[in-house]
Amino acid sequence: MMKKLGTLLLCGALAASMLAGCGKKSEESSNNSSGDGTLIGVAMPTKDLQRWNQDGENMKSELEKAGYKVELQYASNDISTQVSQIETMISNGCKVLVIASIDGDSLGTVLQQAKDSKIPVVAYDRLIMNSDAVSYYATFDNYMVGTKQGQYIEDKLGLKEGKGPFNLEIFTGDPGDNNAKFFYNGAMDVLKPYIESGKLVVKSKSVEFADVATADWSTEKAQNRMDAIISSNYNDGTKLDAVLCSNDSTANGVTNAIDSAGWKEFPIITGQDCDITSVKNMIAGKQSMSIFKDTRKLASKTVEMVQAIVKGTEAPVNDTKTYDNGKGVVPSYLCEPVFADKDNYKSLLIDSGYYKESDLQ
Ligand code: BGC
Repeated sequence: MMKKLGTLLLCGALAASMLAGCGKKSEESSNNSSGDGTLIGVAMPTKDLQRWNQDGENMKSELEKAGYKVELQYASNDISTQVSQIETMISNGCKVLVIASIDGDSLGTVLQQAKDSKIPVVAYDRLIMNSDAVSYYATFDNYMVGTKQGQYIEDKLGLKEGKGPFNLEIFTGDPGDNNAKFFYNGAMDVLKPYIESGKLVVKSKSVEFADVATADWSTEKAQNRMDAIISSNYNDGTKLDAVLCSNDSTANGVTNAIDSAGWKEFPIITGQDCDITSVKNMIAGKQSMSIFKDTRKLASKTVEMVQAIVKGTEAPVNDTKTYDNGKGVVPSYLCEPVFADKDNYKSLLIDSGYYKESDLQ
């Protein structure tokens, strides 16, 4: 069914023609109710973070609008729970699986079962590694997320203009999430030259990915690490100028630690997801920016992929070289992330209907 390699170029051309309107075409196609009740399994990692609740709900409603039945499961960030949920989806007769993995490396065995049962798999947001059962990948441009975070710090500190030295600390995400490395690399490709030239100083000396990773993307773990960094390096009044945080849950840990240290002035703090807590923190001047990834668009694009798979037509992809999962490049559709801060959040988040004004009060 997948004709994966043979169709890469065609897929690329098709996707290129759609690039301008990620999500637009799917609004048309997902309204045509052609799913005929086919059962689709949607596996999400956790309900703990706001975004995955939105992702799950968006996927469910878009698929149902298109005439599919949906089995939606959340796995409480527990790998064995996710594996057994996927096993159940297979035995319940799901015809396509859409999976946002907890740990990209832990699904090989269950996905072999899917492949043996001829059930195609779409990796959602996070790439599933070391499995040849993954047909497509729908995500945001993860490297670009990191680049935008790094550039925000570069701009706000005036690093290009030669200003500095400034103090920086770094927090990224879970090592089992393939995205975390992309976010980190995108940001570090902007910031590393300044670290090397001494214009950015990381007083904790934690710069390498393994030293700045945050298991489970946990707010509490980020907060504990930031507490320790403050007490070892900044308790004497040394100014911390910027904190690169790969997402909002880690940014929240950092702002909590700064709040409890009683600092009056907040450093530049980056984030990702535009979770409500973080947007409120942006409005309050505690977090400087977040990356807005419109989960409605990602869901629409993924539903287009599912429809193409079910109908045996070409799925939309716009990247056929970046995401090698260890078994080969997985044809991908990358939606574009944009940065949000207190100057543009109203038009991005409220005018677009993503949030209501009252959500942010
Ligand atoms: C997602 C981010 C999210 C993080 C933690 C990543 O894979 O791309 O949007 O903040 O996981 O859940």
